[in-house]
Amino acid sequence: MDELAAMPPTPAPAGMAGCAGETPMSTLISNIGELVTNAPADAAAGQFAAGQFAALGNAALIIESGQVAWTGPSAHAPAADEMVDAGGRAVLPGFVDSHAHLVFAGERSAEFAARMAGLPYSAGGIRSTVAATRGASDEQLRANLARLAREMLAQGTTTFECKSGYGLTVADEARSVALAAEVTPEVTYLGAHVVPPEFDGDAARYVELVCGPMLAACAPHARWVDVFCERGAFGADEARAVLAAGAAAGLLPRVHANQLGYGPGVQVAVEAGAASADHCTFLDNGDIDALAASDTVATLLPGVEFSTRQPYPDARRLLEAGATVAIATDCNPGSCFTSSMALCVALAVREMRMTTQEALWAATAGGAAALRRRDVGHLGVGARADLVMLDAPSHAYLAYRPGVPQIAAVWRAGRLVTAA
Ligand code: NIG
Ligand code: FE
Repeated sequence: MDELAAMPPTPAPAGMAGCAGETPMSTLISNIGELVTNAPADAAAGQFAAGQFAALGNAALIIESGQVAWTGPSAHAPAADEMVDAGGRAVLPGFVDSHAHLVFAGERSAEFAARMAGLPYSAGGIRSTVAATRGASDEQLRANLARLAREMLAQGTTTFECKSGYGLTVADEARSVALAAEVTPEVTYLGAHVVPPEFDGDAARYVELVCGPMLAACAPHARWVDVFCERGAFGADEARAVLAAGAAAGLLPRVHANQLGYGPGVQVAVEAGAASADHCTFLDNGDIDALAASDTVATLLPGVEFSTRQPYPDARRLLEAGATVAIATDCNPGSCFTSSMALCVALAVREMRMTTQEALWAATAGGAAALRRRDVGHLGVGARADLVMLDAPSHAYLAYRPGVPQIAAVWRAGRLVTAA
């Protein structure tokens, strides 16, 4: 469960204060062109709740004991043991990627190429990753997972969720959640991803396995339970059964909902009090109203629409109705093989008509809300000091310069973990 210990730091270049592996008592980052806090200036420690984008110009921030200890105007910054001059660059909360499938083997680039040549995406491709994953050793799965986790961190993702769902036997799901727990505390049991081939024609028996022995083997390693509620995967009653069994085992619900067509997924998620309904590509008015009236976050995954040529979700309708919106990658070998939150922000702005502020908030505080986390996604006093310094003066550059590497440095829990 130690997400902080899982990855070695990369050495800091000359000029960037903070030696790899050493954490100074306190660090002052001054001369920040734009400090995105997502928190009102007077927010008390721990009082953060899903709110609005908030930023300070000409700002400074102090890190102490792995947390944000002070934010304010650069000119009024107190002294600290170590100084970093941001040189007018922007500093943002680390990205919170609340939806990813990183425990898998193999790849499906041929399926992607076929889609780009006109074939539609279908849930059926999941089975080829299931076969590859079952055939892989623990070490192969661990190495792939570590590579993706490092890739995320280097791109500014300081918190991520990770699902099982490519094992689909008791043993393969159990090792998937155990491996995920080595790199993040946000582990999701997704035994109900699809019905595996050996249960063809007997989905009910597979659901019994998912709700029984498989859940028992996975629950000790997981925080969340998820179900793919979609035609071709699991129906509403099956999804309800999976979420109820997960809840009885102490897991919190989240749902893959309304990805491939209109359907009951969002309603099932809201009914179950899910932290998040993910995808939300095909929503009717009732779905939008239900999300807006609930605490269930609508997590949008625009990389999936990019990679499957589906229509993008209607983020504007959700926002205008008052729903809480998160953006995540859905990084997986099938529907979307990107780990880049910056790309997802750019797609949200360009293709889903979110403002740059709404998109940045959704990729940080929104993701934290979707994971029911108060310590990340913002830089209010008391937050975990998860910071991204951009090689740019404002957050808008994430969408303004799409595809360009712009991460100058990343701190996680106050430790400099990567610097360009
Ligand atoms: O979130 N929708 C279900 N699961 C994944 C896709 C997995 C795959 O195609 O391998 C998703 O898009
Ligand atoms: Fe997914």
